[in-house]
Amino acid sequence: MEQTDLVRAIEELKRTSKAVILAHNYQRPEVQDIADFVGDSLAMAQYAAASEANVILVAGVRFMAETVKILAPQKLVLVPDLNAGCPLADTITAEQVLKLKEVHPRAAVVSYVNTSAEVKAVSDICCTSSNAVRVVRSLPHQGIIFVPDRNLGAFVERRVPEKKVFIWDGFCPTHHLVSAEEVAQMKGLHPRAEVVVHPECVPEVQALADFIGSTSQIIGHIADSEKDEFIVGTEEGVMHALRKVAPNKQLYLASPKMVCPNMKKNTLEKVYAALLSRQPQIDLPGEIIDRARRALRAMLEVKP
Ligand code: 13P
Repeated sequence: MEQTDLVRAIEELKRTSKAVILAHNYQRPEVQDIADFVGDSLAMAQYAAASEANVILVAGVRFMAETVKILAPQKLVLVPDLNAGCPLADTITAEQVLKLKEVHPRAAVVSYVNTSAEVKAVSDICCTSSNAVRVVRSLPHQGIIFVPDRNLGAFVERRVPEKKVFIWDGFCPTHHLVSAEEVAQMKGLHPRAEVVVHPECVPEVQALADFIGSTSQIIGHIADSEKDEFIVGTEEGVMHALRKVAPNKQLYLASPKMVCPNMKKNTLEKVYAALLSRQPQIDLPGEIIDRARRALRAMLEVKP
């Protein structure tokens, strides 16, 4: 099918099946453009918690669709490709979290949403890159077990020095593709540009940044800034939204290597096929949903 026919067919299926499409900022441009909502992990979770749609198709990676299912278990949650996983989420299991709890029994477990539903089920509270510092500050605990991203963990540790943070050693392979040398080289080429990066980047890259935030925070910061040149250190999908909100600004991706192969597994063809067949669906055990929802709800209750 031609792209315009595919878009029309998807719009028709959305209407007839009362479905909404929720897309992450890293999705392909054409997938972002047919979505009812595009945002970062926190905004996607908030949208899912409030949505009245019967069917939600989540164009992102698997943990994002699981988060939607946990927050809205009565809804049909579809994904374009069940193999769109997150290697960072795969670095830790629920058993490993339970072992950490044995070692640090008085510490609270804060799990980044980039985790499986089983890991969320054994966590006290979840966080995303946009609220991790706020979530950790909100807890009465002095000790924090932070899983699984070591760079976001170190970012939190620097901003909340009064707490003892025990950090898991996971990382996002896509954000690890940009080095401090590469960012310094880009700064040399564009000396007037501000450097904005995601907290999943290594600490040496974060140290060169003028602004560190989630994907939507990066988009908001650039849109609102009076500056007109930016070096962007996160997955290249954000460039699509950035070109829309800041069409007259000069935007340079920090490294051409910053492409997440899992996020790119979702295509318009797969979105169409999923809506048509109502497959693949996200299905989770009820007991895991109930326990994981406590941790997600606790996060959503933290005041902005
Ligand atoms: P955001 O919450 O910033 O959109 O990040 C999601 C993610 O998985 C980053 O790699």
